[in-house]
Amino acid sequence: MNYKLIMTGILAGAATMTAMAHTDPLRFNPSIGTAQTLTMPDGKTVPYTAYEGIFYVTNVEDSTYQTLNIYVPTKMADLKRVPILLRTYVGGYAASTAKSPSPSDATGRALSEGYVVCIPGSRGNNSVIKKDGKDYYTGRAPKGLLDLKAAVRYLRYNDDLIPGDSELIFTDGTSAGGAMSSLLGATGNNRDYADDLKAMGAADARDDVFGAICYCPITDLNHADMEYEWLYGCTNTGVRHLDEAQIAISNELAAECPAYINSLGLTEADGTPLTADNYKDYIKSFLMASAHRAVQEGCEIPDSIGFTFYKDAGGPGGGGPRPGGNNRPPMDQDGRQAPSFGPTGTPRFDKTSDFVTGLDLDKYLSYVASVTPLKTPPAFDQMGVLIDTPSPENAEFGNTAGDGANFTDFSLRHRLHDPKATLDKEMTRRVKLMNPMNYIGSENTTVAPNWFIRHGAKDRDTSFLVPINLATKLQNTGKNVNFFLPWNRPHSGDYNLDDLFSWISSVLPE
Ligand code: DHB
Repeated sequence: MNYKLIMTGILAGAATMTAMAHTDPLRFNPSIGTAQTLTMPDGKTVPYTAYEGIFYVTNVEDSTYQTLNIYVPTKMADLKRVPILLRTYVGGYAASTAKSPSPSDATGRALSEGYVVCIPGSRGNNSVIKKDGKDYYTGRAPKGLLDLKAAVRYLRYNDDLIPGDSELIFTDGTSAGGAMSSLLGATGNNRDYADDLKAMGAADARDDVFGAICYCPITDLNHADMEYEWLYGCTNTGVRHLDEAQIAISNELAAECPAYINSLGLTEADGTPLTADNYKDYIKSFLMASAHRAVQEGCEIPDSIGFTFYKDAGGPGGGGPRPGGNNRPPMDQDGRQAPSFGPTGTPRFDKTSDFVTGLDLDKYLSYVASVTPLKTPPAFDQMGVLIDTPSPENAEFGNTAGDGANFTDFSLRHRLHDPKATLDKEMTRRVKLMNPMNYIGSENTTVAPNWFIRHGAKDRDTSFLVPINLATKLQNTGKNVNFFLPWNRPHSGDYNLDDLFSWISSVLPE
């Protein structure tokens, strides 16, 4: 063997490898980092390195949104394996640019904990480019989700170059962003998304995550209308003030819900089957747990909103059984520092011995509706039923020309005045891809093992059934679920960060 030839061959090979590393557009380039700092609410300064404006797919369609930012704290957490918080700022199913960390939400807190933060942008129902002189909508479902999945893949693909452990990704989002987080958690590595991701030029890597943090997820969109009317129908002629046509739609939708609930085959934590018959008691158990926690914290809950209380249950800690009450343990008792109902101060109830024994659900729902007016039916797939305006969800399922679309047979039939109309095959596929309920417990899917789900006890943006079904299905399929309806919380996210971050550290591997 000619030594010189071999050496030349080796050197040429090494040069090609180096060139490849530099020409692979999906390889993370550590040299772009810039030093930045964040000042936290307590005045503490958190230094970190920012890597911004990174394209996470090779076939970029919308350069405004298909980038991500990565933030690496200068002082990494003292852990063998440091988690990565992937925060999406999607709201209203709209597009979202890659953002920088904020001292007032989970991103700033994560950096100050020494965790790595990734904030991807993603296309959405309003992202638009000019194509052949015309508006071309780039982000209709499932494009925004595909972008976020591509961002997860990017982190995995570059695990050797990006600080933090891509096997410990926590996704976080609120509302439509909470829905995206739930989808990232529920659909890991499922082949249904594979061809689209490949066509986008997403990294060839896994896209499952370790934990999903979902604040008030607006999800299960194709059942959300019936779930809303089944729950809130009791307010139709009261605080909701619906007209006759709206009441008719509300009743029609509500009538479809029991079959859906029964089809889910869910069980309570003790194995009791959940059906439309006992489901309202199940909802009540979560609301009562929320109110009970609030009372324990000294919140005043007026008698007028439906709760009944039992005093003097037998000494410190509340003691014995709850007479006339619901003894089901809530799925998780977490939720400390839930905001108070009205002014705290002198508690009306003895903190050690009083507890919530009952709830008139209809009364409480009327209260919720009196705080924030309810959506009118259909709450989500509204276009063409009683009004023509597309909802954010109609836009989400619309087309590249910017038109909205129906995503349920119910609304399609009403809009077309055709009782036999059904969604076409492609729409059925898109609707399926956007619903985490379809993937939890399904084969060939890596569902996140850890879930933190919150939905405010007075949040009416979607029905309580949506987060409860999500949490219950996850729990029923063996996932670690921390679920609570925080008292007096409206539609919001990234609150009670002490709770969130103590949960994160509790689920991290040793
Ligand atoms: C959001 C809120 C909604 O009520 C809705 O229908 C969709 C999205 C949001 O805040 O993201």
